[in-house]
Amino acid sequence: MKQRIDSHRRRVLQGVAGTAALGALPRFAFAQAAPVKIGLILPMTGPFASTGKQISAACKLYIERNGDTVAGRKVELIVKDDGGLQPETTKRIAQEMVVQDKVTILAGFGLTPLAFAAAPVATEAKVPMVVMAAGTQIIPQRSPFIVRTGFTLPQNTAPIATWAAKNKIKRVFSLVTDYAPGLDAEKAFQARFSSAGGTTVESVRTPLRNPDYAPFLQRAKDSKADALFVFVPSGEGLALMKQFEERGLKQAGMKLIGPGDVVDDDLLESMGAAAVGVITSMHYSAAHDSPENKAYVAAMMKANPGMRPNFHSVGGYDGMHLIYEAVKKQPNGSGEQLVEAMKGMKWVSPRGPMMIDPATRDVVQTVYLREVKMVNGQPWNIEFARFENVGPAG
Ligand code: DHB
Repeated sequence: MKQRIDSHRRRVLQGVAGTAALGALPRFAFAQAAPVKIGLILPMTGPFASTGKQISAACKLYIERNGDTVAGRKVELIVKDDGGLQPETTKRIAQEMVVQDKVTILAGFGLTPLAFAAAPVATEAKVPMVVMAAGTQIIPQRSPFIVRTGFTLPQNTAPIATWAAKNKIKRVFSLVTDYAPGLDAEKAFQARFSSAGGTTVESVRTPLRNPDYAPFLQRAKDSKADALFVFVPSGEGLALMKQFEERGLKQAGMKLIGPGDVVDDDLLESMGAAAVGVITSMHYSAAHDSPENKAYVAAMMKANPGMRPNFHSVGGYDGMHLIYEAVKKQPNGSGEQLVEAMKGMKWVSPRGPMMIDPATRDVVQTVYLREVKMVNGQPWNIEFARFENVGPAG
């Protein structure tokens, strides 16, 4: 009898020990596979809110289509609104994400001054910083942890300068928003256009905050230039286009050209017929004719009714792709190892082929010439030529 009790106790104890051991295993495995925390800092409110909405929607779509685990690690997206105008706010949020949330990667960055502000945080914390929107060329030089998946202004501007010089545009009036990407666009256009024989008759810069385009557009009209070259950041195109039409520049025969930010797909439907005939160069159009893009646009519009995906959205979508692929290569990689894994990565995006140049950590991609045309009653940027493998300097 005593023996039976002992053997029973032994079996129970063994059972308990067995359960405990089994119980410990998943906890141990869970502790190993720490989540991939992505701290997405974006303007979700204010004048540049469309950039934040487009990018956050695209990042969420990427997770939906590719699963919320990568290399056995759960993917957590933490989205924070920086309001788009205060670099100190972006910097503080980046610091909080690094210190409190312990993010694996910082991402987003809607405007250049905000990316500049966060760069030292990435360097100090040794956390990769994926720049999805801001387009000033020198941004990746601000930290060895920066990798860009959007575009640069010289990259998107040089092709339109080449096109203009070859298409009977001899005298251009230039208007750019007065901050780093505007100055990049102004410089890239003038360099390429003048070396091709064109002349910039006047250059004006409009304020980033509360711009009034009317007086500048009147000056442009009075100049009787062949074309108005424009760079305004995403979110501003509608106001500029309204003034362009109201002041009668189009009727006066002046062409509107530039990098494609001014005819951003997010706003193009609201611009309506006023935008027809605008010719720009850009890395992405929602009308890009490829199976990858057709599926992307359909999925974005299904998940976000009424929102046509714009060029910033693909910066977000491809940024997520870059993060997933880097984690697959370096499942438990340090910040440095993840950045190394990102260098040289190549893939086919909804925009077309792209790669991360290992030397500059910047994007190399196809830039398309497009003209706004009405298709089925809606304006679209219809691509008609392409420049392949354009680097960050244009
Ligand atoms: C930047 C922001 C934009 O929305 C854009 O279209 C181009 C450049 C920027 O701040 O870098």
